[in-house]
Amino acid sequence: MPKLVLAYSGGLDTTTAIKWLSVEQGYEVVALNIDVGKSREQPVVESRGLAAGAVKVRVIDAREDFIRYFAFPALAAGAMYQDAYPLATALARPLMAKLLVDVAHEEGALAVAHGCTGKGNDQVRFDVGIQTLDPSLKIVAPTRENAMAREMQIEYLREHGVDIPWGDKGPFSIDENMWGRSAEAGVLEDPWQEPPPDAYEWTVSPESAPAEPAYLDIAYQHGMPVSLNGDEIGPVEMVTRLNDLGGRYGVGRIDHVEDRLVGIKSREIYEAPAATIFHAAHRALEGMTLSKQQLKLKKHVATEYAELIYNGLWFSAHHQDIAAYVASTQRHVSGTIRVRLQRGTATVVGRKADESLYDRGLATYDRGDTYDQSAAVGFINVWGLQTRVQTRVQLLGQMPDTLKIAMPGERE
Ligand code: ARG
Repeated sequence: MPKLVLAYSGGLDTTTAIKWLSVEQGYEVVALNIDVGKSREQPVVESRGLAAGAVKVRVIDAREDFIRYFAFPALAAGAMYQDAYPLATALARPLMAKLLVDVAHEEGALAVAHGCTGKGNDQVRFDVGIQTLDPSLKIVAPTRENAMAREMQIEYLREHGVDIPWGDKGPFSIDENMWGRSAEAGVLEDPWQEPPPDAYEWTVSPESAPAEPAYLDIAYQHGMPVSLNGDEIGPVEMVTRLNDLGGRYGVGRIDHVEDRLVGIKSREIYEAPAATIFHAAHRALEGMTLSKQQLKLKKHVATEYAELIYNGLWFSAHHQDIAAYVASTQRHVSGTIRVRLQRGTATVVGRKADESLYDRGLATYDRGDTYDQSAAVGFINVWGLQTRVQTRVQLLGQMPDTLKIAMPGERE
């Protein structure tokens, strides 16, 4: 029997996949569970996988690698898809693709499989990742090839002697890892409908959060978080702590209609307290330590970076190029940011950095001013020169109608 390694969550889809791949497709299935945090099926993956007929269940704790090599680099880049989504699911997929390929090699497997449907982005991220890392591996996607309704899956498993109490379906489709939780489907498919309270699990509603604020100091070194309130703890612990704290203050809820790579617009509810707070603080620190030209180009690069992650191009030369640029921008992005958490908001209220470009002597309106105000006159003369020439020559000295200049349709 040919061997196959399946990315196994322990949920109904991938449990059905184990049975289907062995019975219908004749594979010897190794179930690979990759722990990127927050998985509720974690305690039962082993027993479920074996019950469904896997020859082996392997569990890899990938949390540290996930935060260190995927989430934090995306944070340093400022990558937010469509300015809204911190990319939790999207960032975990290339790591899973990589581990699938590694384990396939270790196990001498000729094929790998994942449980993605044919409608989403995740299939693209898995397939492109796997194809890039090892084009010789065959990829099987049982849910895409042979979609079964939930009741059919349960029935199919039962017919094959796998009796697992699956419980209620739950009103939404959920994907979770340490960087964020995403919910879609059910009533959320109506974009006019406010998300019901049970769409959220990591965060309390802002109105039920404590009225008293919490203050938090986050230190970064070269764009990477290194301590919370002075405690130098590891990346997994930092993210865990910040998710808990942010969640208690109602921070990190995101309601977004986003554009999938496959052309569908989709309404997503995200919860990402740690990612939201880390991004806000990081942006503030860059505001202190990068020049305005660096900030401007980096914003474009962040958009590009977010798109390449979202669109499954993690393992690409394009990513390597962009990552090199981002790393270079972060050389001096070190310092501490103070954030106030209160009723659903995370507000930056303090900033300090040894290599800050903020110069109080230049900025001050009080005593100690080091800025030469008389130098502004010559600068303004030169800065406005071309505009003055153009007005004289092309607008014949007529002032543009300042009120209507930006109002299309009122120009006639
Ligand atoms: N829309 C997000 C993405 O493509 C998350 C999808 C997660 N899946 C889910 N069943 N909620 O990255």
